[in-house]
Amino acid sequence: MAQLIGGLATSHIPAIGGAIHKGKQNDPYWKPFFDGFPPIHQWLGKVQPDVVVVFYNDHGLNFFLDKMPTFAVGAAATYSNADEGWGIPTLPPIPGCPDLSWHLIRELIAKEFDIVTCQEMLVDHACTLPFKLFWPEHEIAPVQIVPININTVQFPLPTAKRVYKLGKAVGEAIQSWDSSKRVAVMATGGLSHQLDGERAGFINKQFDLQFLDSMETNPEWATQFSDLELVEKAGTQGVELLMWLAMRAALTVSASGVRKVHSNYHIPISNTATGVLALETV
Ligand code: DHB
Ligand code: FE
Repeated sequence: MAQLIGGLATSHIPAIGGAIHKGKQNDPYWKPFFDGFPPIHQWLGKVQPDVVVVFYNDHGLNFFLDKMPTFAVGAAATYSNADEGWGIPTLPPIPGCPDLSWHLIRELIAKEFDIVTCQEMLVDHACTLPFKLFWPEHEIAPVQIVPININTVQFPLPTAKRVYKLGKAVGEAIQSWDSSKRVAVMATGGLSHQLDGERAGFINKQFDLQFLDSMETNPEWATQFSDLELVEKAGTQGVELLMWLAMRAALTVSASGVRKVHSNYHIPISNTATGVLALETV
């Protein structure tokens, strides 16, 4: 059976793409953010996942407000990126893993998750940039991906409780996949940020640190909050932390728990409180 080796999470601010392109990783503004990654690069070099299941939110590249699935799973052989207007380089297509995609889709539907299946799917900065951050030496990361899109763009959002259950079902499906591949789960987005409205620029360090702590000590902690409570606490776009919750829930299938490899928290990059985290199943 496939092996679930651990989980990764990072913010996905588009400006990161520009900083990488211009080689600004050591500029005083960017260094505290990029310094969060080398210990995770070392770990990834050791554990070498073959496939990464990515929980992320599309921001209008593939899905728009007229048709917005709550949960959508990619089932493509490759996923293309495209210009979103951020002025960052468009990345080459990323290879998919249709075999795991279809196994996940079958298992999720059997467990009553009414997902949308996507045999064609453009992936935006939320799916592409994390691979540049976690595998900086590679033009395209040396992995196959299965993207899982969770709507955090148009309300009502799926509840944190539902996202947790989805994540757990994804973890179970990975464990029951008949394959010798090594699989990691990844979350992208967050932490607290609000890009628009009266509270534009809102950041909540106290909440973020509590949330980061819950990833290690109490994975279900954030399931107590409704979507609007999460907006109040983390900002309109900070609700992207739901991806982290799905990633962490997937790891609960590890019988002996998880070990933190590394984490980092830095404010601000653009309008966002940034976080990065790697957890290893033990
Ligand atoms: C920013 C953050 C995001 O999560 C995003 O998707 C776009 C922009 C920002 O802080 O600039
Ligand atoms: Fe975002």
